[in-house]
Amino acid sequence: MITDAKWIRCANAADGGALRFSRTLNFKKPIKRAVAHVSAMGIYELYINGEKVGDALFCPGFTALNERIQYQTYDITALLSDNAQISLLVGEGWALGRSGLSEWNINKVYADHVSVIAEIETEYTDGERERLITDESWDVYTSEILFSSFYDGETVDKTKESVFLGKAEADRSVRSKLTEQIGEYVKEHERISAKELIITPRGEKVIDFGQELAGYVEIKIKGERGQRIAISHAEVLDKNGNFYTENYRTAKNKVVYVLSGREDILKPHFSYQGFRYIRLDEFPMGDIELSRFTSVAVYSDMKRTGHFECGDERINKLYENIIWGQRSNFVDIPTDCPQRDERYGWTGDAQVFCKTASINYDTEKFFGKWLGDMALEQEDNGALRGIVPKIGNLVDGTGKISAGWGDAATIIPWEIYLAFGSKELLRANFPMMRCWVDYVRSFGKEEYLWLDGDHYGDWLAMDAGDGVYMGATQTDLIASAYFAHSTELLVKAGHALGEDVTEYEELLSNVRDKFRQTFMKDGLPCVYEGGKDAFSKDRPVKGLTQTALALILRFGLTEGNERERLTELLVKMIRENGNKMTTGFIGTPHVLHALSENGRADVAYDLLLQTENPSWLFSVNHGATTVWEHWDSIKADGGFWSADMNSFNHYAYGAVYDWIFGTAAGIKVLDDGAGYTHISIKPHTDIRLGNLRASIQTRMGKLESAWKYADGGVEYTITVPHGCLAEVELGDGKKVTLSAGEYEFHACENNVTKYT
Ligand code: BGC
Repeated sequence: MITDAKWIRCANAADGGALRFSRTLNFKKPIKRAVAHVSAMGIYELYINGEKVGDALFCPGFTALNERIQYQTYDITALLSDNAQISLLVGEGWALGRSGLSEWNINKVYADHVSVIAEIETEYTDGERERLITDESWDVYTSEILFSSFYDGETVDKTKESVFLGKAEADRSVRSKLTEQIGEYVKEHERISAKELIITPRGEKVIDFGQELAGYVEIKIKGERGQRIAISHAEVLDKNGNFYTENYRTAKNKVVYVLSGREDILKPHFSYQGFRYIRLDEFPMGDIELSRFTSVAVYSDMKRTGHFECGDERINKLYENIIWGQRSNFVDIPTDCPQRDERYGWTGDAQVFCKTASINYDTEKFFGKWLGDMALEQEDNGALRGIVPKIGNLVDGTGKISAGWGDAATIIPWEIYLAFGSKELLRANFPMMRCWVDYVRSFGKEEYLWLDGDHYGDWLAMDAGDGVYMGATQTDLIASAYFAHSTELLVKAGHALGEDVTEYEELLSNVRDKFRQTFMKDGLPCVYEGGKDAFSKDRPVKGLTQTALALILRFGLTEGNERERLTELLVKMIRENGNKMTTGFIGTPHVLHALSENGRADVAYDLLLQTENPSWLFSVNHGATTVWEHWDSIKADGGFWSADMNSFNHYAYGAVYDWIFGTAAGIKVLDDGAGYTHISIKPHTDIRLGNLRASIQTRMGKLESAWKYADGGVEYTITVPHGCLAEVELGDGKKVTLSAGEYEFHACENNVTKYT
């Protein structure tokens, strides 16, 4: 714990360069054990006698830095020597670095200078204890890192002498609470060797690593002292094969090194890029040996739990792209994208992807930390903005209070509870869930609807015409449907926790009734004419959209036998659109489920296997190695849809894997079976895939569902771990309850399943 140490700073440091805070550790007696607790406003690396301690990156991580800052604890016993030199190298990171969309241009969000704090707890062999702390006795120096920024890259000059800037000063400006590490550490993971050297039509020297990722390039090189290497990064080449960086917007992603003259291993300390290609802007060493270049994936150190394969290589590639989308955007917080001038914790993106994420990896700690920050940033009236942690107090840096984004407050705690079964985490987030629903309830003129809000709508949907961001679905409809959904999740959470939620059960039934009265006419969705955007000049607003139907079907907003008719209508709209979706961020995660939950898994498969734009396989067939932000980020003619909102590494649409896992493989956690203790397994097979195998390493062991078409029927294999009860249904209507074990079933053509 940090009890005595002071925050310290350097009063006369220039902006941009990393500082080194340092002192000699003199111990009066032999040491039994020493641990260092360290944190910074900025991001730091800890060194003892010039050696970096630990393998975590970007510490202390990104939290609601106005409120709380994590500190990390290192056992440094084995590293100490007489007169050991301890030093903290500190860059700007999230707290100070440039942040913000092109037009916002926000700097120094949480502080206007870097500060550090450290406490070394020592136990001597005779049992005496001592604490060495950061105070005014520490020295401050310049470092070889002349510039670092997440967006803009890093400049490291290996020839630069370190200059003494003076003694540190106590810094009383940091008032945030220090809290021990809660999240996962960000670390280096996959290392990918350079695949190809390309000389582009413009004559640029470009290296292709064959895989888009978030991280950096490591270069091993021996040059002459003072020689410079400069590299730029890019996700894609343009249709002429030239290096393309416009979609980074203002983020420069440029890394520069000045060589020492010795064999150097070069990589940034306080920056990362989202890229697949680099361009050698300056490389005076003659021959380019590819073996000197390695790209290194950097992300939160979560345990991989999910695996998938099937008989269609394109779907396997899509799955791999989804995994890479997650790796690239789980860098301490869930980011929208890892490359341009954003990389924010956009709540809407995270809520659509959190279920998939929690099948692929154990995300409990990762989301646990971020949800904690979300709760801290929830406003007194329950409002939650689109970005967590927020980027300053400007409205621009916090995002709108939008339906489908703020609802992360109810959706993510519930999904994480279902995936990992922790009632403590659900309980900790229950007040946030309730306050969010109360906020929506008290917003505007109608208690049971969410009208007149300012939303992102069905972000990037295709049904409002080219270049329109918000899609054609009325935002009031989306908001009120989400109001019902969030209230339902609050009720479920209340039941799981034994809370009295009668009031919210009534609210849910009123919201549903009012929704139907307002947004449905003769059993069909319609435009509510009193709505703010009913006659929008910027985009056509339609009542009947694929997204409206999907939300109505999924959020319990139908009555009687409407389901059948609405499903038929959804199928008709998809068919009339050439078996394609028109949905964006709001509709896409639900449309396949809406179909398969209502007997039309066949149409859901049509969408999954579609190859024309918009579809998942469109990007796969265009060489994607991650999931794109926009359905046609690269258009059929090879051009880009826009430079403005065109990330090639946005995980949101990767949410389709929760359909593949939950419906194609058929594994679903039941509401009373959080943590995979009670599940249903109801695979929906399709001969076009031929076979499929999906597994997850639950906390209790491996759970797997697999099927393949063989011998005129379908063979199923199911593995149920200990502590899990599975309600199994294999297409012939029969249900069996299975406990731990491995099972095989054979369904013949006449649909008789042999349970063996
Ligand atoms: C982000 C999105 C985000 C959105 C809000 C974009 O700039 O990249 O993924 O959810 O803004 O609509």
